[in-house]
Amino acid sequence: MTGQQTSPQTTELITGIAELTSQADDGARLRGAALVIENGRIAWLGPASEAPAADTRTDVGGRAVLPGWVDTHTHIVFAGDRAAEFEARMAGQRYTAGGINTTVTATRAATEQQLIAGAARLRREAEAQGTTFLETKTGYGLDLESETRSARAAAAVADVVTFLGAHLVPAGMDRRDYLDLVTGPMLAAVAPHADYIDAFCEVGAFDVEESREVLLAGRAAGLGVRVHGNQLGFSGGVRLAVELGAASVDHCNHLEERDIEALAGGTTVATLLPACDLSTREPFPPARRLLDAGARIALATNCNPGTSYTTSMPFCVATAVLQMGLTIEEAVWAATRGAAAAVGREHGADAVGSLRVGGWADLQVLDAPSVAHLAYRPGVPLTMAVWRRGLRSPRGGQDA
Ligand code: NIG
Repeated sequence: MTGQQTSPQTTELITGIAELTSQADDGARLRGAALVIENGRIAWLGPASEAPAADTRTDVGGRAVLPGWVDTHTHIVFAGDRAAEFEARMAGQRYTAGGINTTVTATRAATEQQLIAGAARLRREAEAQGTTFLETKTGYGLDLESETRSARAAAAVADVVTFLGAHLVPAGMDRRDYLDLVTGPMLAAVAPHADYIDAFCEVGAFDVEESREVLLAGRAAGLGVRVHGNQLGFSGGVRLAVELGAASVDHCNHLEERDIEALAGGTTVATLLPACDLSTREPFPPARRLLDAGARIALATNCNPGTSYTTSMPFCVATAVLQMGLTIEEAVWAATRGAAAAVGREHGADAVGSLRVGGWADLQVLDAPSVAHLAYRPGVPLTMAVWRRGLRSPRGGQDA
């Protein structure tokens, strides 16, 4: 692949695109397209035969181009790891929410600089695999000072920050006192750094009424709402999310028919986390039934040290196709445009997850002629090059 690093001011023409998945209107794949990048955005997109002149030209050599991945569910602000817990799980132990406490202890002991460095390393790892937009959460501090520090670290590395003080009642603390802290002083300290509030609505974490209290407090403080729901059982989190008009409800492994109907009739995106399901040996969510009912879905990594220690969106896309019954186009859509909807970034000047004139030039080149190869060649590192906001990433892909 030829081409060079450009400054944001120059125009760059990308040619040699075998297949362009723009996600502008639908998941259709265009042949023989080209595009021009200027000032971080797409200035022109159309048939290569009509492409205008530009300052520089990059020929991607007959490869597939698509939007950068939009990873809307990660927990990358943490310290330590939980390999021993993972090993025990692979030997038959069941995942429980209580494992979060291990990471809380390590995270409280870390400095803000250490938290930022760890999260930045994972963000770089994600970008090398095509991720150009990433959400992350607090939730491993669980005291006023540590949650605030985690929120600042999250804001330093991520595009969207979610306050997840309601991840677990920390060891040794009274439930009611902790809920008062989360909805009071902790929320006040974290809200300036956050875009969303979240609650882990699950047995062993927070019930529906507790989650509702936290989410409504966050909304009153100006934050958007998202929910961890129905990961380990029929928690009621999905219907709570739909009732509150949450942007997203994440996990969705255990769904009753009425949960699917609620999602199909509401605006909340169901964010599915296949890498987590493999690592916790939970059943996959009923992705096919969700789509067939008319619900909107997104795919995300859920990168965290407990249940899903991966930054790989290509792995999630491949798994969704090979194990969850999605078509290639459905999976790619869910990891780009569908994911953008899950963080309220589907439309407008700051939209992500699609390639259209005037939109951000967040895109990736696969070392393959078609997006089908993402699942056809699972586990193979296909990310060839990545542009974020029009700038070629020095670490995105294999030819960095
Ligand atoms: O999304 N489910 C809640 N939170 C994380 C896991 C947290 C942990 O076990 O460290 C998740 O899977």
